[in-house]
Amino acid sequence: MSGAAEHVPVLAEAVVAWLAVRPEGVYVDATAGLGGHSALIAERLGGGGRLVALDRDPDAVAQACARLKRYSQASVHHANYGEMLETLVRLGVSPVDGVLLDAGLSSRQLNSAERGFSFQADGPLDMRMDPTRGMTAGEYLAWVPEAELAAVLRRYGDIGPAKRIARAIVRRRESGGLHRTSDLMAAVGAGLDFVRGVPEEVRTVFQAIRIAVNEELRWLEAGLRQSVRLLKPGGRLVVISFHSGEDRVVKRIFQEMSRPQRELERDGRIRKVIPPILRVLTPKPVLPDAEEVRENPRAKSAKLRAAEKLTAGGE
Ligand SMILES: C[S@@+](CC[C@H](N)C(=O)[O-])C[C@H]1O[C@@H](n2cnc3c(N)ncnc32)[C@H](O)[C@@H]1O
Repeated sequence: MSGAAEHVPVLAEAVVAWLAVRPEGVYVDATAGLGGHSALIAERLGGGGRLVALDRDPDAVAQACARLKRYSQASVHHANYGEMLETLVRLGVSPVDGVLLDAGLSSRQLNSAERGFSFQADGPLDMRMDPTRGMTAGEYLAWVPEAELAAVLRRYGDIGPAKRIARAIVRRRESGGLHRTSDLMAAVGAGLDFVRGVPEEVRTVFQAIRIAVNEELRWLEAGLRQSVRLLKPGGRLVVISFHSGEDRVVKRIFQEMSRPQRELERDGRIRKVIPPILRVLTPKPVLPDAEEVRENPRAKSAKLRAAEKLTAGGE
């Protein structure tokens, strides 16, 4: 299977429609992945248009580069979208007409056993989206205090028996046997030894640890704020999330920026009212239809939200 065929872009038509791509516009795809959405944007650009695609995973950058090489308006860069502003300013590309952020993992990352994201294939406990920096999942699990691990499992995985699982993981690390995805799976099984077969919590344990290792929600918030700063008035921000924690961050920032902000004096009097920066275009998230979910089960939990920038700035 070719790299490009491994990941089907989610909500593709909705992305193009909500971004309102114009041939002479300048766009950022903050999560290039396999370049699926980027290709759809690049196809719609004329000679004066530009697409800058980013990804924190060097393998995704290579895949997207190969996919987009036929579009002279497109370039792909290795960068965390939490550092988007700095990256775009360095490239001399700002302000922009639209930013797309399609959060989470690509199917290619999930399906590569050696990346350690999946409980369905044995591999090293890595889970870093950017393997050139940061702690691996194995290093994280060797260090994290038990109570913090339980909190992470509850917060990012909505896991009920989080304490039992955290205790079992810590027991396994103390016996020196926590190096591979199969070890983590065995630890979850030992913590839930009353469950027959593979406990359903395994999937959410892997998800929660991945979110923690990659500090995904912190970067998402930074990426959204920087996207708004980069947009021209009238520019569009389109975000796809796959997890309730991600969607809560998107919703909170959209709500915050679409309300007037008050600057207060020390005594509580209002010094200045700052008009809203964003207009939310999707009061409810856009979801994939049944046909898309049938053809691409990964789309099942996708939620798209879009907003338009109203004024200059966006601090
Ligand atoms: C769902 S995939 C994107 C798929 C892409 N839209 C396509 O059509 O092929 C998400 C991508 O975002 C990247 N990613 C996740 N967090 C990131 C971050 N903070 N900065 C940059 N890229 C990130 C992942 O490495 C992954 O390649």
